[in-house]
Amino acid sequence: MPPHPLLDAETVDALEPYLEEVGTVFHAFREQDSGCVSYGVAIGGERWFVKGATESEATTSLRRAVKVHAAVQHPVIVPLQHSFDIAGGLALVYPWVDGTVLYHPTVSRHGGRTAPDSPMAQFRRLPVPVILRVLEQVLDAHLAVEAAGLIAVDFYDGCLLYDFESDHMALCDLDEYRPGPFILEADRLPGSRRFMAPEEFTRGSTIDIRTTVFVLGRALRLLLDAGDDEQEWRGSSPQLEIIECATASDPACRFASLEALVQAWRGASSVRS
Ligand SMILES: Nc1ncnc2c1ncn2[C@@H]1O[C@H](COP(=O)(O)OP(=O)(O)OP(=O)(O)O)[C@@H](O)[C@H]1O
Ligand SMILES: [Mg+2]
Repeated sequence: MPPHPLLDAETVDALEPYLEEVGTVFHAFREQDSGCVSYGVAIGGERWFVKGATESEATTSLRRAVKVHAAVQHPVIVPLQHSFDIAGGLALVYPWVDGTVLYHPTVSRHGGRTAPDSPMAQFRRLPVPVILRVLEQVLDAHLAVEAAGLIAVDFYDGCLLYDFESDHMALCDLDEYRPGPFILEADRLPGSRRFMAPEEFTRGSTIDIRTTVFVLGRALRLLLDAGDDEQEWRGSSPQLEIIECATASDPACRFASLEALVQAWRGASSVRS
C-alpha cells in the first residue's frame, strides 16, 4: 500500500499547499478564535477534517488534543486519526463529520444563538425526546472523559456538531480538556462564560471533576430550553432540581462526580413528570 498522504504524513512544510496538492480542499475555517486554521479535504473518495496551528498557543492546544484522544475514546467523540508536524506547528487529522456546530463564533462574529434560523434555535425546536437522547450521548461521552481522569475545559455549544438530517451528535474540539484536578495558575480558563463555573475565573482555585459537573449542568440547562434566556424550560421539575445542584456556585454543594450527576439525571429522566 502506498503511504496515505494524511495518515502517514510525518513532516509537512506549509499545510494548505500540501492539502491542495494531495486532495481537494472543499472547506476552510480561517476565522477561528483559537488561531487554528482547519480544512475539509477530499482525497480519493474520503473526506477529512485537518486542523493546523503554527502559532505557539494554538500549537500547545493541539498537543493537548493529542493527549486527550490518547486517553479517551467514545463513539460520540470524533476520533483523532493522526497528527503530523508542520513548519512551526502541528496538524491533526480527523474524519470529516457531516453536521453543523450549534454555535459557531468566529473572530469577526459572536452571538446569534437567538436568530430563528440559527443551529441552536433549530436544535431547541426538536422534540424533547430527541434532545434527551442527544443529552444522554453527551453525558455518556463525559463519563468516559471522567474515567480517563480528564476535566472538561472550554466545552460549549461550539463542540456540539449535530447533523439535523440524521439526528446524529458528535463532539469536536475537546482540545483544552486536561488531566485534573489542577490549580488554576492564570486569571481564567478559556471558554464560553455561559458554560463556565465560577472557579474557572479565580486564580489559585482548584479545578476538578465538580467543574465538569457544572459545565455539563449548564449544557443540560441551555439545551433543554426553548429560548436563549432560560425562561422556557422544556424538562421536568426533578430534572431542573438536578441542574440546580450541578450548577451550585460552591463546588462543595454540587454532585461529587459526573457519575453521580448522570445517575441522578437518568433517574429523573426515566420518570418524567
Ligand atoms: N471532524 C469534523 N468534521 C467536520 N467539521 C468539523 C469537524 N471538527 C470540527 N468541525 C468544524 O470546524 C469548526 C472549527 O473546528 P474547531 O472548533 O475544532 O476549531 P477551533 O479552531 O478550535 O475553533 P474555536 O476557536 O471556535 O474553538 C467547528 O466549528 C466545526 O464547524
Ligand atoms: Mg477550539
